[in-house]
Amino acid sequence: MSNANPKTSFHIGLRSNDVSDVKVAIIPGDPGRVPKIARYLDNPIPLANHREFCSMKGQYQGQTVLVISTGIGGPSAAICIEELAMLGITRFLRVGTTGAIQDHIAPGDIIVPTAAVRLDGASSHFAPLAFPAVADFTMVHSIREALLEKNITHHLGICASSDTFYQGQSRQDSFQKGFVHQEMRNRFEEMKALHVLSFEMECATVFTQCAAYGLSAAAVLGVLVNRNRDEFPSEAIIKETEERVIQAALSALPKLK
Ligand code: URA
Repeated sequence: MSNANPKTSFHIGLRSNDVSDVKVAIIPGDPGRVPKIARYLDNPIPLANHREFCSMKGQYQGQTVLVISTGIGGPSAAICIEELAMLGITRFLRVGTTGAIQDHIAPGDIIVPTAAVRLDGASSHFAPLAFPAVADFTMVHSIREALLEKNITHHLGICASSDTFYQGQSRQDSFQKGFVHQEMRNRFEEMKALHVLSFEMECATVFTQCAAYGLSAAAVLGVLVNRNRDEFPSEAIIKETEERVIQAALSALPKLK
């Protein structure tokens, strides 16, 4: 979409008219997940498709919902939140995926992060490191109620958000086989010992930015892999978990009104 109209957001390609009736934005990272979520909405319409930011809108149980991808990582997620906030959106639900690091969490489970360890860089552009990357309590509470009602297996706790998928999450099986520099090498064991539930790449930025701006954000994360058993998820688990996390998010939507 062209950005010739000065009222069109620079990156996400939306105008305030597009979203004036939107109460909550569902924000997956993956643009491919946008139509997968929107197919469960009534009257889904595509809005914009610019860089990593693909957006659609529709109704879910009478509530107008925007679905827009943030791309991977804090920097692009921060742009997306910034421009949506400028258009008047105040509530954000991240629908993402994650790699569990605690033994009791299985692929396919859902994690609802109460907070995120700020291993990213972008969150420090919004508030000093002493500021917590905390999810909105009311949203977390509503999500938990919905998941309990639907009997969806889930875990509440802290996730860790890193800027990189390989080194930042202590993955040994990357280009430099087996070599991860010292600070990153110890991250996995350190986070595990601190009872952090999982690694992902956006929550720390999204939670810090929203808390610092007086906006509300929470997340539901589908567990793709348990890192104590495997470094990478299988295709079958990715497909299944993606659908489970979408259903988890949709079940929470009516309670976020
Ligand atoms: N997303 C991540 O950032 N890490 C994982 O292990 C899985 C999904």
